[in-house]
Amino acid sequence: MKILVIGAGGREHALAWKFAQSRRIQVVYVAPGNGGTASDSRMENIDITDPESLAEFALKENIGITVVGPEAPLSNGIVDDFRAKGLKIFGPTKKAAQLEASKSFAKSFMVRHGIPTAAHETFTDATRAHQYITKKGGPLVVKADGLAAGKGVVVAMTTDEAHTAVDTMLTHNRFGNAGNRVVIEEYLEGEEVSFIVMVDGKNVLPLATSQDHKRLNDNDQGPNTGGMGAYSPARIVTPTLHSRILREIINPAVAGMAKDGIPYTGFLYAGLMIGADGKPRTLEFNCRMGDPETQPILARLRNDFVDVMEHAVGGTLDKVELQWDHRIALGVVLASEGYPDAPTTGHVISGIPKEGEDCVVFHAGTALAQKQFTTTGGRVLCVVGLSDTMRMAQKIAYEAIREIRFDGMQYRRDIGWRAARKPHQ
Ligand code: AMP
Ligand code: GLY
Repeated sequence: MKILVIGAGGREHALAWKFAQSRRIQVVYVAPGNGGTASDSRMENIDITDPESLAEFALKENIGITVVGPEAPLSNGIVDDFRAKGLKIFGPTKKAAQLEASKSFAKSFMVRHGIPTAAHETFTDATRAHQYITKKGGPLVVKADGLAAGKGVVVAMTTDEAHTAVDTMLTHNRFGNAGNRVVIEEYLEGEEVSFIVMVDGKNVLPLATSQDHKRLNDNDQGPNTGGMGAYSPARIVTPTLHSRILREIINPAVAGMAKDGIPYTGFLYAGLMIGADGKPRTLEFNCRMGDPETQPILARLRNDFVDVMEHAVGGTLDKVELQWDHRIALGVVLASEGYPDAPTTGHVISGIPKEGEDCVVFHAGTALAQKQFTTTGGRVLCVVGLSDTMRMAQKIAYEAIREIRFDGMQYRRDIGWRAARKPHQ
């Protein structure tokens, strides 16, 4: 079978890598792909990004299944376009993708269906938003309603910071339309977990759990980023908590979408905060897999991914039982100088180790030309180590990183710290 993966990041490299391991694969096309997908003989990059031309390509090449990595094409309706042409594609429709594309949609959806989340109010008027902040007091979280590439959330520890965020979004329009409306919500304390499932319209198939590291610097300091590292599984998610998340969050979300006449298909990613009381609350829904969570998750998946995807687009995910490598997979992101605000690019990368049993490097912002990898974006590589213990997985990933070089390379030295400091790991 021919598979098409849409996107260019580490997540898409991991998706293509997992597909390429299937015995049933002829070729995995990646649009537009990166240096990593360019260097793998089982994959082929295609330089197309507009949905119309992608659908034409899929028809012409007789693509069996298309999988979409990032949120932007999903919220622009690529799934609707492909389906209208009779093409098989895994992802949510434009309407269903609102769960990620509009925070106010997601919040009222959660309230309507009794899904636990932070208390909130939605504002389009700056004066009202300021009054609300003054009344409530800090800490508060201010979120631009629309997609803002991970930059639209301000965790304001003081009311001053919250006022500034409202000014940035509503008054100065820094996020354009995405910030014309803001959600202001209660600050939740606890430990974050990424809970990602596959949904075929009615059946839910949970993937392995994971934890991301959103802040740029060690000890969770510095600005929020797309994610600086992740590991799987998240030990905090005990079997009891796992069932509770399905019962209280995932199942009501999937049933709620169906009830609202917008059946959900695709990956569904619930960003959760687990409180000290053990209660899971939803911070956000994403309508895709996480990046970098996908890299450690798929590094542990044992099943043939083409088989799994066939069930996903065929509505038979209830027939699938996923098998996971028992080891812990830990991925460390190597980012460019200046990331996340203004990454510098165009630097030569050297020393990327060959894939081994316990280490695999996924590319994100890289290009390949004349047998040389160069940097093209903020997040450049994700180095995944696999081992029986968290400490060993860390050791493997960080030892591989020692060999890798590019100008201005920055990364966190403490990926996995929460789990590593706990006993019995
Ligand atoms: P979001 O895109 O909504 O997940 O927000 C990005 C990040 O901001 C999350 O991963 C959390 O670290 C943080 N965050 C979002 N909402 C809250 C909240 N209500 N309380 C505390 N932290 C939050
Ligand atoms: N790593 C967080 C995300 O993909 O949204």
